[in-house]
Amino acid sequence: MAMLDDGILDAAFLSHNCMGDFDRDGYCIIPKAISPELCAFVTSYARLKHRVSPNIYKGKDDSLTGIHREYGDALMETFLERLQAPVERATGYALWPTLSFYYTYTRGNELKKHKDRDSCEVVACLCFGSDEAYRQSKKAWPIHLSLQERSVPVHLNQGDIVLFKGNELTHWRDRFEGEWLISAIFAFVRKDSDNAYLKYDQRSYLGRPHIGMFRWSIGYFWANFKACLGRLLG
Ligand SMILES: [Fe+2]
Repeated sequence: MAMLDDGILDAAFLSHNCMGDFDRDGYCIIPKAISPELCAFVTSYARLKHRVSPNIYKGKDDSLTGIHREYGDALMETFLERLQAPVERATGYALWPTLSFYYTYTRGNELKKHKDRDSCEVVACLCFGSDEAYRQSKKAWPIHLSLQERSVPVHLNQGDIVLFKGNELTHWRDRFEGEWLISAIFAFVRKDSDNAYLKYDQRSYLGRPHIGMFRWSIGYFWANFKACLGRLLG
């Protein structure tokens, strides 16, 4: 295993360091996956961007209403590409990277119950950092995952990752009570699944802007039509 000394701690992704079994449970937790130094640097970057240009979604129809979010940010896409091999190791799947989002949550934000679209077969959700008072309080803002007969609150400290099946498991967060918190998701699809066409979220390469939901939906319907036809004929 090639080890880069870049703050992404590859050894944390080895199966004996993961809590849970992704395939069996639908999720697993990777404690201390990213170094505190790298998390602190990215947190400063996200705080600067939030100050300069708060990119807050204002629609009322979305699980992320009122939350600063950015799709395909160049730094986050670099993480996405870099995380491919370690996430493959932790899940046991061969994967294509699809998309990244990062979020600046502020007091009062909540993440409504939802499932992700098919680009998110495997989601790596990461906490980069929060305001000092919240961090000192040793609180961690849980993301709740709905499993078959119960829901699990997953508490992520700075640098921890939870891997979960984003398009299968309903997930949400309750109201945030700190000042701010930076979180990101990095999403993948399995190379051997019907969703493999969602490589790079149908963009020509990572780092490109979103192709737009109209074009994305055309690709989605076309791929599903072809898969359906294949099953009928095969
Ligand atoms: Fe989600």
